[in-house]
Amino acid sequence: MKIFKSREETTTYIDRQKADGYSIGFVPTMGALHEGHLELMRKAKKENNLLVVSVFVNPKQFNNPEDLEKYPRNLAKDMEALNSVGCDVLFAPEADEMYPGPENTNYDFGQLENVMEGASRKGHFNGVAIVVRKLFEIVQPDKAYFGEKDYQQLAIIKELVKKVHLQVEIIPCPIVREKDGLAMSSRNERLTDEERKMAPFIYQTLQNAKNKISQQSPEDLKKWVKKEFEKTGLFQLDYFEIADDMYLQPIQSWDNRTGTMGFIAVFLGKVRLIDNIRFI
Ligand code: PAJ
Repeated sequence: MKIFKSREETTTYIDRQKADGYSIGFVPTMGALHEGHLELMRKAKKENNLLVVSVFVNPKQFNNPEDLEKYPRNLAKDMEALNSVGCDVLFAPEADEMYPGPENTNYDFGQLENVMEGASRKGHFNGVAIVVRKLFEIVQPDKAYFGEKDYQQLAIIKELVKKVHLQVEIIPCPIVREKDGLAMSSRNERLTDEERKMAPFIYQTLQNAKNKISQQSPEDLKKWVKKEFEKTGLFQLDYFEIADDMYLQPIQSWDNRTGTMGFIAVFLGKVRLIDNIRFI
């Protein structure tokens, strides 16, 4: 595996590979790699000649300084995982390398960013779009792989690619879960033992909600989910939203023409976790 810290080295190396006719599959990450990340990488490795992974904890997408500070970082362990999936190129820059000067690009994703994660974490998606666009310019991937765990992020990236006419195919990948249903996340590492035991309640509640859609209106179902979390006394619900799967706008009835999904964000202690489920 080649390991690069500079943009220039990375681009020069990839230019050469592309000139030799190699296709590039790219998985951008913030490290603290787990099976969820590795599944994206296995798929990218299978579908392309070269697997390129970036590990960069992007300060621009954190609206909470404590979350940024506490974000797990362990590049040595990540490199072992990357070797195990046959990663060809790791790009792991420092913040100065990605942001040598002030950065003031302001993307407008309209209604897509005014809901859920966009509403709860102001500036988050702008920070994601800034870094992903830079990474795409450096890596020049043919295909880039994103998890449905961050469903709204995936929608934003697709919109970014359309908006600025990037030549990359975005490949969505299903959520990878622990055996007990908890969606894998780098933030799970920060849960206490007691919190970790309770965490599967999130996905269980999403599944229970799904079983109720024939009996309850979306509005009533939202109230039911809110109560379920209140009853535990452990979780603090940030939002539970029922929305269409394209524009992510809240729906009022089940006869929506596109797909319908449930989206959730909850605090468990100090850790904020997100998950989602397809209803229809
Ligand atoms: P990160 O949270 O490290 O996630 C990297 C990729 O892995 C994302 O596409 C995410 O959706 C996917 N992923 C994480 N957990 C997953 C799971 N349990 N199942 C399936 N896919 C999963 O998302 C980011 O980093 C950053 O915002 C980034 C795109 C790298 C920009 O900084």
